[in-house]
Amino acid sequence: MQNGTPWPAGDADFARINLPIDQAGGLPSIAYTDPAWLALEQDRLFAASWSFAGCVHDLAQPGDVLPVVVAGSPVVLIHGEDGVIRAFHNVCRHRGTVLVDRPERGRHLITCPYHAWAYGLDGRLRSRPHFFGGEKHDRADGADAPGLVPVRSEIWLDWIFVNLSGKAPELAEHLGPVHARIAGYNLSGMRHCGTLAFDIKTNWKFGFENYIEPYHVFATHKRLNDVANMADRRAPEFERHVLWCSYRIKPTNQDLSVGLPYFPMKDPAIGRRGLWFVVMPNFAFEIFPDHVVTFICTPLAPDRTHERLDIYVAGDAAMDERHADGRQALLDAWREINGEDVGIIERMQQGRLSRGFDGGRFSPYWDEAVRHIARLVTEAMTAPTAWVPWTPRPG
Ligand code: FES
Ligand SMILES: [Fe+2]
Repeated sequence: MQNGTPWPAGDADFARINLPIDQAGGLPSIAYTDPAWLALEQDRLFAASWSFAGCVHDLAQPGDVLPVVVAGSPVVLIHGEDGVIRAFHNVCRHRGTVLVDRPERGRHLITCPYHAWAYGLDGRLRSRPHFFGGEKHDRADGADAPGLVPVRSEIWLDWIFVNLSGKAPELAEHLGPVHARIAGYNLSGMRHCGTLAFDIKTNWKFGFENYIEPYHVFATHKRLNDVANMADRRAPEFERHVLWCSYRIKPTNQDLSVGLPYFPMKDPAIGRRGLWFVVMPNFAFEIFPDHVVTFICTPLAPDRTHERLDIYVAGDAAMDERHADGRQALLDAWREINGEDVGIIERMQQGRLSRGFDGGRFSPYWDEAVRHIARLVTEAMTAPTAWVPWTPRPG
């Protein structure tokens, strides 16, 4: 960190991140507690890169509309009458009122509640009543009529990503390190079977730091440790903004699910492992032979995070009634496992209020990935304004 930044943490606090692992420490506490730090993260990380915004299944039909917040900024996802899902800034072009405040279905227009400007599902302004006075309704279909401002968006499987800055590399490139490691799976038939939501009193980074490191499993997740103990686990790896980790599992993981069908896979060996990824800044997911779970952290405040988990099973067969118990067992298991993590990461947040904490110490075997997240965040926070995250920095 350069001198002159608005944070009281000094250069030495940030320099510790890059020391040899046995001397290194994590981000200073200010990175987890300061509203100004989060505001800059929203800009430098969430707006500048590809952020997860919502699921396709949330707006499955033309006319479905979903308001979301990305990088602290209101965005609306709209399933158009042409079948295309688009993203727009969720704000009226007249006086800046938020247009959509709840999920809706069967819409043909997006009408502002303030002065009734109406936009088509393609974002074009269609009418603005009384705009020129009197009773006349401006049809507003001229080229200069101010339509909704589009947000760059792309879809991978069930997941809609947006890039608010418009400058990030293509989504396929952003996800490149993931695609290279899941080529043996065919997830195209995955079916959504449940969503879990948690409001947590913690900083969003603790969600991902905890998600990627398996060091805590033996102490925090006793039941999970019985499924795959520490000897079956490996330290996480990483490439740029993507981190991953895996472990060996029993052929059918009875503690996580009950006899659900497997995804088609080229190599039976991958049917014996769990593989999970963090794609900075806000998307993570885990692949098992018989299910996929996403893990999204959305910062609401420095010490408040919304977590969303979506669970998918393998094809229509897995959605059959005879697998209802298996699907329910899966949801129950993830509610229990994530609940165990929630208690811990709330205590991590409380620990950042201590005047006696200095950034801590890292396990030389397990914690390189946690250190890498600290590096990624620091890199983005200190980069020149024009820098596009996860690309080489000038100079
Ligand atoms: S602010 Fe939307 S129509 Fe006036
Ligand atoms: Fe955990």
